[in-house]
Amino acid sequence: MSDLAHGILILDYGSQFTQLIARRVREARVYSEIHAPSLAIDTIRARRPKGIILSGGPNSVYDDDAPQLTAGLLDLGIPVLGLCYGMQLVARAAGARVEQAGAREYGRAEVEVRTTNGLFRGFAPGERTPVWMSHADHVTDLPGGFIHSGASANSPIAAFEAPGKGLYCVQFHPEVHHTLRGADIIRNFLFAVCGCSPEWTAGHFIEEQVRIIRERVGSRRVICGLSGGVDSSVAAALVHRAIGDQLTCIFVDHGLLREHERDQVERVFRANLGLDLRVLDASDLFLSRLDGVEDPEQKRTIIGHTFIDVFEQAAKDVGGDVRFLVQGTLYPDVIESVSPRGGPSVTIKTHHNVGGLRPNLPFELVEPLRELFKDEVRNVGRELGLPEEMVGRHPFPGPGLAIRILGAVSREDLAILRKADAIYLDEIRDAGLYDQIWQAFAVLLPVRAVGVMGDGRTYEKVVAVRAVTSVDGMTADWFPFPPEVIGRIANRIINEVSGVNRVVYDVSSKPPATIEWE
Ligand code: XMP
Repeated sequence: MSDLAHGILILDYGSQFTQLIARRVREARVYSEIHAPSLAIDTIRARRPKGIILSGGPNSVYDDDAPQLTAGLLDLGIPVLGLCYGMQLVARAAGARVEQAGAREYGRAEVEVRTTNGLFRGFAPGERTPVWMSHADHVTDLPGGFIHSGASANSPIAAFEAPGKGLYCVQFHPEVHHTLRGADIIRNFLFAVCGCSPEWTAGHFIEEQVRIIRERVGSRRVICGLSGGVDSSVAAALVHRAIGDQLTCIFVDHGLLREHERDQVERVFRANLGLDLRVLDASDLFLSRLDGVEDPEQKRTIIGHTFIDVFEQAAKDVGGDVRFLVQGTLYPDVIESVSPRGGPSVTIKTHHNVGGLRPNLPFELVEPLRELFKDEVRNVGRELGLPEEMVGRHPFPGPGLAIRILGAVSREDLAILRKADAIYLDEIRDAGLYDQIWQAFAVLLPVRAVGVMGDGRTYEKVVAVRAVTSVDGMTADWFPFPPEVIGRIANRIINEVSGVNRVVYDVSSKPPATIEWE
């Protein structure tokens, strides 16, 4: 293993926010790696990180099965930043008193800053700064030599430090954007405390992944399921950079694509990137397996399994020893689907690429973007030279229009939805709004409503249109269209798409709604 002499080691105690910590460190242009809390102390010593960050986690330090602080971690002479649960671990090990709280404190709070050094360098004395809390236990007493550096109403000891020992702890989450000056706190740890330099870039990420992919794949053949979306396109371009024509990209037309999507993908990938691209029309297979299936999870499972069946056949056609399948899985897909790194994080829902795949997968997965967020992936794509038309595309889910037709999927409904969706996106582009929106799409509802056309009564389908703003897809808000734009969109859909007599606009945020309707 290479050493981490310019980087930060993050130990994941199971927080939903651990990847956000890594992301904030990357944003400060410092390299970081996330590891399970069981990483051996000798390995940590040998890797020589500039600093160590202990994440939060769902446990109380008093739980029987609570992950513990590695013995000797605080004696390595490496600065440690403990966040939330990480803070309780440090506090206990250092001899502070940690009390179990009756209820979990969750949400916004204010911390009064009591020092202008260490993590709070650059803050005003006594500054009250908004933070995001999520914890059960709290520290009630500090041993001698520790500085009480921040206080909140519910957690009088909301921050403490022991600069001589290189220990810095906060009860709140500086990694989430609700903590207004969280990025300053993390930067203070990286630069003022650990002495890191801001040198790490998307280019370094590409170099590192190219090395890892080459090592893992050797001279074997690899296939990549290309969907035409940002994630799989960037993953394909990255793997192509690593292994060139050992890679064959497979674009599966599952019959659930948007209008002209197949042509666009062929044009961009063959013409611009010179990748070995094979287009397979498997729409009959997918649509026959989906026939009459209403349940969204069942639809996802059928689609995920059918993809693998098609890839398996495609791999035989490619020939040679195809052992690997590249997928453009991103971090939000992972965190919402499984507990990362087998760590203690709580599973939120089974979802996305990773959840839908078949058991006994005949491939090993190569997922070079697994730790990144969408906007970071876009930067990697730009660095790899992908055209803006590709990297700037709105996300499109793998199961395609199947999860935008609520209930059973039919060819007639697909035709209606495709047309409505194309008009919708057309109008958004014409209004110059495409790049202000994270994702916009139409949904076909399984209800009918009464309308009037000419002199006659109609009883037809309802289309919902959704447009959201978001930074990473984990939370989202509805996009406020100018009234004339949304009016034009509704008019055109109702007039031009036969079978639809009503358009509604979705004004739900995520949470509590999700982006897709399913
Ligand atoms: P939700 O609906 O969970 O979606 O708020 C968050 C983001 O993920 C996309 N999404 C998917 N992407 N396969 C994918 O590749 C899927 O099964 C899938 N489901 C949702 C969704 O479009 C949004 O960008």
